[in-house]
Amino acid sequence: MTTIRDALIYGKNYLKKKNIFTYQLDTELLLMSAIGRDKTYLYAHPEYILNEREKQKYLQNLKERSKRLPVAYIIGEKEFYGEKFIVKKGVFCPRPETELLIDEAKMLFGTDDSLKIYEIWCGTGIISITLAKLFPKSFVYCCDISEKALDLTLKNAKLHNVEGQVKIFKGAFFEPLKDTKFDLIISNPPYLNKSDYLAAEPEVRKEPKEALMSKEKGLWALKRIIRESKLYLKDEGYILLEIGNAQGEYIKKYGKKKGFEVLVKQDLNGYDRIIRGCLKK
Ligand SMILES: C[S@@+](CC[C@H](N)C(=O)[O-])C[C@H]1O[C@@H](n2cnc3c(N)ncnc32)[C@H](O)[C@@H]1O
Repeated sequence: MTTIRDALIYGKNYLKKKNIFTYQLDTELLLMSAIGRDKTYLYAHPEYILNEREKQKYLQNLKERSKRLPVAYIIGEKEFYGEKFIVKKGVFCPRPETELLIDEAKMLFGTDDSLKIYEIWCGTGIISITLAKLFPKSFVYCCDISEKALDLTLKNAKLHNVEGQVKIFKGAFFEPLKDTKFDLIISNPPYLNKSDYLAAEPEVRKEPKEALMSKEKGLWALKRIIRESKLYLKDEGYILLEIGNAQGEYIKKYGKKKGFEVLVKQDLNGYDRIIRGCLKK
């Protein structure tokens, strides 16, 4: 295993044997990270010979992946909405389905630029930072309970040059920002119930449990956000929340009971994935 071509073949076979379902994509990402090149380079220069340091790094990456560590933790980054974000062990790994929240915000607010946005529980900061970039005259406030998450959000905000727009607070729900009203309250809270968490792939269980699982069959955080948002939304404001695929109907009813008009939207696989709510007039 010396050239890029050989390294790709070796890595794919190795991860396939270790039952890593996403072996193809993972091999490419792990090799790209080991040699510090992008995907185009891999396929344009299959004869490139890895030096000893690159080879050892790649073998180490493969070994970690075979222990079911998420790729993002191994390479230290993840792409979200076409941009790279720093990711570290101990903080939730961004998921592609969360991009639906951003699409929906874009659709709702178009080019309306001077928004006041609150993200409840920011993790790596992907949602707040992406919104800050899309709405450059807006302010995005965000909170999380995890110091590691807050630290990463700050690092990512600096990486994307939006630290002046993104205000980061330690806390839960609305405590950090009482007395403020928002155009948009947005969140991807923990929403797995205990049995779904226990049945999840080993990679998922390498992430912080409190970022994934919620009490009351996974509904506790969602319900509390809906209940409390009412007091912090401007009249024309919206809430946008990511939900579990079996939670759409319940959350829709709950939101209506709490005074919202609610729409459930599906992801690319046809599963309920986000809810959009606005206060009934
Ligand atoms: C599913 S992750 C979402 C992170 C990020 N918004 C994203 O979409 O990638 C949920 C986040 O909620 C935070 N969290 C969980 N329970 C919390 C609580 N009671 N108070 C504050 N933050 C909490 C976790 O630290 C985690 O970063």
